Amino acid sequence: MANGIGTRLVSGNHNLVIYDRDLQKAATLAKKLGAVVKSKSLGDEIDEEVVILALPYNATLEVVEKDGNLFKGKVVVDISNPLDFETFKLIPKPGTSGAQEIAKLIPDSKVLKAFNTTFAGTLVKGEVDGKKLDVFIAGDNEDAKKTLTEIIESSGLRAFDIGPLESAYVLEELGRLHISLQNKLGNTWMTAVKILP
Ligand SMILES: NC(=O)c1ccc[n+]([C@@H]2O[C@H](COP(=O)([O-])OP(=O)(O)OC[C@H]3O[C@@H](n4cnc5c(N)ncnc54)[C@H](OP(=O)(O)O)[C@@H]3O)[C@@H](O)[C@H]2O)c1
Repeated sequence: MANGIGTRLVSGNHNLVIYDRDLQKAATLAKKLGAVVKSKSLGDEIDEEVVILALPYNATLEVVEKDGNLFKGKVVVDISNPLDFETFKLIPKPGTSGAQEIAKLIPDSKVLKAFNTTFAGTLVKGEVDGKKLDVFIAGDNEDAKKTLTEIIESSGLRAFDIGPLESAYVLEELGRLHISLQNKLGNTWMTAVKILP
């Protein structure tokens, strides 16, 4: 997903920094994505205003719990599909969502849910069936949603603000549904959840 989202953001002329616990991996992806992309180690000070956590759900919880101070005041984007792949159920209990559980751990950050319904390969390609990808955003901070919307739309994608962070469970269920349909769709993982037209 870092490669997919990174590809789109670079196409929109955004400067990126790739953070990874393995600095070499970060450097390799940064090099692949282009000249405006730098690399740093996960845990290093973050200078950027917007942080996209391209991590598995449980790792996202771990990282924000351990290094919460790094995310203070930042727009923090949770892209995870918090699925238990054995039961195929969502890990967060009904009445909450992965995004809300993450937000509880970093109350001084502006947590948004986005990108969990866009598959990595489709982000790299930038379209499905000749159409722009839709990115749905949930969050409580209006300025943060505006900032992310501008980033998304300047990167050749379409953004929809679907409401407050408590709406994130809708996106997590939608992500689960989209993943569950892949068998029927030929396991290409190149499909999209899209509002037409
Ligand atoms: N793939 C998709 O199409 C897709 C679509 C929508 C949403 N998502 C969501 O996007 C997130 C990332 O998915 P992905 O497909 O990009 O996964 P991925 O290719 O497996 O990448 C996961 C990244 O997380 C890092 N990581 C894993 N555990 C970690 C830990 N405990 N501490 C620090 N870093 C850790 C990995 O670092 P190392 O390389 O060092 O192991 C790797 O950089 C997931 O939450 C997924 O549900 C994926």
